[in-house]
Amino acid sequence: MENKGFTLWFTGLSGAGKSTLAEYLAPILKERGVKVEVLDGDEVRQNLSKGLGFSKEDRDTNITRIGYVANLLSRNGCGAITAAISPYASVRQQVRDMTTAKFVEVFVFAPLETVEERDTKGLYKKARSGEIKNFTGISDPYEAPENAEVTVDTSKQSIEESAEVILAYLASEGLLPN
Ligand code: ADX
Repeated sequence: MENKGFTLWFTGLSGAGKSTLAEYLAPILKERGVKVEVLDGDEVRQNLSKGLGFSKEDRDTNITRIGYVANLLSRNGCGAITAAISPYASVRQQVRDMTTAKFVEVFVFAPLETVEERDTKGLYKKARSGEIKNFTGISDPYEAPENAEVTVDTSKQSIEESAEVILAYLASEGLLPN
């Protein structure tokens, strides 16, 4: 029987660990017999969303594009993992509604002070100094999900622990073949 596809929709601040978690989970899911594609925010912005900026309109366009592709993949039996900030609740709801396979919103949480301290790409420093404008969490909104299927806190949980919570949820929904 064809595996049931799903979309794992990660949302969270830059530096919260969305991409890291996606890359960590992908091979584990493959080993469990799930076909997987990761749609990572930074990578999508170099390809599918090249030229888009960070206004609300551009972010919403970016998210609906990712949602469109995630739907194509997940309805064909693939586990689509998306890793974009997706700061606006309304467009997250929109992509949830357009997804025919199971949609799993995962809130990848870490306090602002933690991601700012990590400052993996050096962008929070630039956002604070004003060099980068409209930066999510600093000078642009982040609307935290209120009804995410799964929430992980990467300031308290290790990557293995966070991944385990997500895998347990997928298993409980019958989405892991073996
Ligand atoms: S989203 O808002 O459209 O979901 P996306 O995840 O694709 O954002 O891109 C976010 C990444 O772009 C960040 O991790 C960061 O590396 C970079 N970036 C550059 N400018 C901004 C900005 N103003 N706000 C947020 N992220 C930015």
